[in-house]
Amino acid sequence: MSLRNTATQWGSLAKALHWIIAIGVFVLIYLGLEQAGMERGDEKSRIRFIHASIATIVLLLMTIRVVWRFMNETPAHPQGMARVQALAADLVHWGLYIVVFLQLLAGAMVTGTGGRGLPVFGLFSIPLPVAEDHDAHEFWEEVHEFVWKPLAALVVLHILGALYNHFVVKNDVLRRMTHGVK
Ligand code: HEM
Ligand code: HEM
Repeated sequence: MSLRNTATQWGSLAKALHWIIAIGVFVLIYLGLEQAGMERGDEKSRIRFIHASIATIVLLLMTIRVVWRFMNETPAHPQGMARVQALAADLVHWGLYIVVFLQLLAGAMVTGTGGRGLPVFGLFSIPLPVAEDHDAHEFWEEVHEFVWKPLAALVVLHILGALYNHFVVKNDVLRRMTHGVK
């Protein structure tokens, strides 16, 4: 299996990044909501810290992913795919890139305007070029508490699209993001 993408296949690096980031985003939504429902205290702070540490890693991986996407080919839509379906897929994919980055940015700004750097499990912390600011902190918290909802909605549409391709149209779209196509 090649590292790079081809005109018809995703390479191993793009696949690995897709699936690691997908798991990361699911875990982030789960931990974010878990801590939101807790009373202030050590346990809530601990879950926030784990949430932010995983998010920092997802931010680094997403940056690599986008750079890599522009360094190689992107597999074309399967031949014969209806134009409206291809357009819908493109819109959902670009929408996902945008909302994932927006959510990461908002989370990073919540942390930065709270006077902290991006944590990585206590190993080190990445300083942010933003000043501590109470009003900005509240603003970015509101953005962060909102954007995960359109993000989750797009993920649901995206999964339905993948299942539709696999089980109804019966093309290779899901296979080429998993074990590949001969
Ligand atoms: C794709 C990325 C991310 C997702 C899906 C995500 C998801 C969430 C969710 C669902 C919540 C609960 C919101 C609520 O109370 O309704 C939350 C809260 C929080 N997240 Fe994230 N998050 C992401 C990235 C980040 C990043 C990069 C950081 C900082 C390094 C961060 C720090 C926080 C903090 C401090 C809270 C608690 C403050 C608040 O309620 O707004 N998150 N996150
Ligand atoms: C939070 C979770 C997820 C996110 C953020 C996400 C994001 C994305 C993005 C942005 C692309 C477009 C890649 C590009 O054109 O550069 C993509 C492709 C793809 N995703 Fe996901 N994804 C997630 C979960 C899933 C799941 C659970 C499935 C399977 C049910 C899936 C199946 C696929 C497939 C099959 C493709 C390739 C489409 C094609 O080759 O035309 N994704 N994903």
